[in-house]
Amino acid sequence: MGMIDIRHLQISFDGVPILRDVNLTVEKGRTLVILGTSGTGKSVLLKNIIGLIAADSGSIRIGGEEIIGMDPEDLYKLRRRMGYLFQGAALYDWMSVRGNLEFPLRRRELLDEGEIIARVTEQLRLVGLEDAIDKMPSQLSGGMRKRIGLARALITRPEIMLYDEPTTGLDPITGRDISHLIQHLQEQHTLTSIAVTHDIACARIIADRVAILDKGVICFEGTLDDMSGSTDTFVKRFIAAA
Ligand SMILES: Nc1ncnc2c1ncn2[C@@H]1O[C@H](COP(=O)(O)OP(=O)(O)OP(=O)(O)O)[C@@H](O)[C@H]1O
Ligand SMILES: [Mg+2]
Repeated sequence: MGMIDIRHLQISFDGVPILRDVNLTVEKGRTLVILGTSGTGKSVLLKNIIGLIAADSGSIRIGGEEIIGMDPEDLYKLRRRMGYLFQGAALYDWMSVRGNLEFPLRRRELLDEGEIIARVTEQLRLVGLEDAIDKMPSQLSGGMRKRIGLARALITRPEIMLYDEPTTGLDPITGRDISHLIQHLQEQHTLTSIAVTHDIACARIIADRVAILDKGVICFEGTLDDMSGSTDTFVKRFIAAA
């Protein structure tokens, strides 16, 4: 059994099926990249895994614990073990970088002031942005926002990370830098991760395995080499267009 195990996951909105029968496993310490065309339900899938959207049926096990139908208090506890980098970084625009990073720590009320400051400084150093501590999000470039988003997602030291399009909207060089940073953080913290991306260059850097979501099911799962060698028409079209 993997760290993340998804079986027969189904979800519809207003009677329209989005995920029809999704099956996925991610082993501990590994990174699965999910590819797929726009609107296929990749973000919906991540939101299901972190319990922000409830599935209609199926199973999602995190470290062996079933989260579908879990009571809210247990779900909240489990969510503490997960970090989520939202599509577009989603920083709180009215808070400084310091405020953004402190927020998840203060909400948990586990650390004293000195520990909070030390943790914030450490995270900023990890993403190479110590000097940005007193800046507001509006003063940051897209790449810097992603880095701060990463720092914030990792500040509570999660075991599991979910990334929604970590490089979208960035130039190829900044995108590559962010991908290497993700890869480095993954290794350093032995994170189990799922990353959604359209960026094949990013997938090459961070993925152990890749899965393609199409029409509500996983139509391909394997290594990047397996994907390149696939004879499936949709997979070939997908790679050709990437
Ligand atoms: N909360 C919601 N209520 C109703 N419909 C939703 C909701 N969230 C997503 N959808 C619908 O589900 C479908 C999949 O959306 P999703 O955001 O998962 O796509 P995606 O694969 O992440 O696309 P992109 O690559 O553009 O980010 C879309 O048709 C969207 O309109
Ligand atoms: Mg999305």
